[in-house]
Amino acid sequence: MVNRFIFNETSYFGWGAREVLPNEIAKRKFKKALLVTDDVLLKLGIASKIIDILDDRQIEYELFSDIRPNPTVGNVKKGLRICKKYHCDYIIAVGGGSVIDTAKAISVVMTNPEYKDIVSLEGVTNTENRALPLIALPTTFGTAAECTINYIITDEEVKTKMVCIDTSSIPVLAIVDSELMNAMPSSIAAATGMDALTHAIECYITKAHNEMTDMFALKAMGIIYNNLEKAINKDKRALDQMALAQYIAGMGFSNAGLGIVHAMAHQLGALYDTPHGVANALLLPYVLEYNGAACPERFIDMGIAMGLDMKNLKGMEAVKRVSQAIKNLAIRLDIPQHISELGGKEEDINTLASKAYNDPCLAGNPRETNASEIEDLFRTAF
Ligand SMILES: NC(=O)c1ccc[n+]([C@@H]2O[C@H](COP(=O)([O-])OP(=O)(O)OC[C@H]3O[C@@H](n4cnc5c(N)ncnc54)[C@H](O)[C@@H]3O)[C@@H](O)[C@H]2O)c1
Ligand SMILES: [Fe+2]
Repeated sequence: MVNRFIFNETSYFGWGAREVLPNEIAKRKFKKALLVTDDVLLKLGIASKIIDILDDRQIEYELFSDIRPNPTVGNVKKGLRICKKYHCDYIIAVGGGSVIDTAKAISVVMTNPEYKDIVSLEGVTNTENRALPLIALPTTFGTAAECTINYIITDEEVKTKMVCIDTSSIPVLAIVDSELMNAMPSSIAAATGMDALTHAIECYITKAHNEMTDMFALKAMGIIYNNLEKAINKDKRALDQMALAQYIAGMGFSNAGLGIVHAMAHQLGALYDTPHGVANALLLPYVLEYNGAACPERFIDMGIAMGLDMKNLKGMEAVKRVSQAIKNLAIRLDIPQHISELGGKEEDINTLASKAYNDPCLAGNPRETNASEIEDLFRTAF
């Protein structure tokens, strides 16, 4: 069995880590950046923590911030035009998964212009040329987009979230500065933290998991389960821990895969614009009880990693203990528990299920499944 691992060239962690940026840029002899962020982060003064560093050191950049959550093909095309027009030779992305994913798509097409329609990037693409160098500074503790080989772009015309997988899209440098996450409102912190927990859990039971990705997954779920609430309450150590753990989960799932929680969550994002973390958190307990039948013994390890009492539990008892603990956490975090609360309509269930069945994340699911069982899961979660 041969396992492949792809990680960032360099990564930094810790409160204030963004200070390394000027040295890293100088060392790499980069000339002009496309600085990618979003309008909310500009307004909140979070992007300005990076802009100030660039201005102080007279580092040249062109700003692009027209990116919405669940970013679209249109967002990518607009950023691409600016990147080309101003001859940027690298990209700095400051934001959550939406910003970093948009930057990844821009970076890939800059050096592989045959994909300029963007929609042809969907699925596994082995682009010929390494993407334009990307430096990613995450501001949420969810997606780990700064260390993964994939990015998600919404094709607004057909209301589909395209999962794009390309080893060339991984940022060369990740700067995980927990101070940039400090001002997240509780609802965003809760949702993105639950996304990271979903990454760790789906990674641990996905088909292609292996000893190395297991190590990342167990470590990440232990830290996240025990620190997310404290981090939301602005405990500085817990915030550092969350910033680190979401990255650890990313190193796991980027190299192993995910499962149908993500395959289903992508459809709620595409159809109802549900925040990605909310969709995952809502679906996770329902899907775990379904998937647990295929690998109940792995739930004992997961429960122990999370610090739950797993003594004398066997088979589906262990599955239930873990899924109930996760559901209770989501309830404490005020995450909706039913799709109907997200504005979902029962007549969409068929479409949601058939699209989820065709999502690339489905391939890693530990239990063999089909569109009708996914439809039942959506119905239960409704
Ligand atoms: N590339 C990957 O590996 C990967 C993995 C999972 C999800 N995703 C994708 O990432 C996207 C979700 O990203 P996300 O969950 O990080 O959220 P996001 O980037 O969509 O941001 C959500 C909102 O939070 C705001 N925000 C971000 N950081 C903030 C901060 N520090 N303080 C205050 N507000 C802040 C943003 O401006 C935005 O309005 C989805 O499109 C999802 O499909 C990608
Ligand atoms: Fe995710």
